[in-house]
Amino acid sequence: MNNDQVLRDYSEQILDGDGGNDYERYMHTGTLLSLQRRPEEVVHRDELLFQVVHQSTELWLKLAHAELVTATDRLRARDLDATVALLTRASLGLVLVTEQLEMMHHLSPWDFQTMRTVLGHGSGADSPGWRSIHRQGNALGRAFTDYVTAEGVDLAELYRSQVHSPQHRLAEAMIEFDERVSLWRVRHYKMLTRVIGNEVFGTQGTRTDVLARLIEDRFFPELWRLRTELTETGPMGRYHLGTSS
Ligand code: HEM
Repeated sequence: MNNDQVLRDYSEQILDGDGGNDYERYMHTGTLLSLQRRPEEVVHRDELLFQVVHQSTELWLKLAHAELVTATDRLRARDLDATVALLTRASLGLVLVTEQLEMMHHLSPWDFQTMRTVLGHGSGADSPGWRSIHRQGNALGRAFTDYVTAEGVDLAELYRSQVHSPQHRLAEAMIEFDERVSLWRVRHYKMLTRVIGNEVFGTQGTRTDVLARLIEDRFFPELWRLRTELTETGPMGRYHLGTSS
């Protein structure tokens, strides 16, 4: 223990800013915790649950987007290890926002009808977090296609014989991210039909069944096509193609 540690008064708050202590000042908890409707404003107490899930989703997606932006830059700089590490973080962010959809299962479908009356035409379809993920996912997809073209990467060959290479790790981190977005959509679709039902309209006028089709949207289609190619050219390929001889 050095002198500085002995003499330091840890109860002293040393940061500038609003809040009763350094934690509140650094984390801006005063602002953060004032962003939900107050008990006297709500039409139903579960608005808190509903807002917390949405608002925390926006925060995780803010982080995931930041990681994707840097991952795209690192890929363009040919720094594959950093790209993979950042993509892995972005994917974990998606896992977390998918998990928290579970909380929506505790909404009563009938109570939610009351809550819907105060949402206006507001919908997660306008989520800034999700919009930024879609924009950056597409940018990353373009960076990946440019990389594959410029470096002459044969994706099928990569998967057949170079499974321990940095390029293979990159491809797997990309597909992981793509799949995580789809899995969020699956969970969101199943959750929303549990809460509001099938073939009804959302607060923004979209029929719920349209969302089922979005599940197949992909950022990196070549990595999905590749799987089909491997099946078609693999030992069982002829069965897949329906050839009898
Ligand atoms: C009870 C909870 C929820 C219900 C009933 C619900 C319902 C819906 C509906 C009906 C749509 C179609 C657009 C429209 O509103 O007309 C939609 C779209 C969407 N919602 Fe939700 N939602 C819920 C929770 C969430 C949460 C927590 C998020 C996270 C931000 C979210 C994000 C989205 C996104 C991104 C779309 C666009 C479609 C897509 O990209 O798949 N929703 N939602």
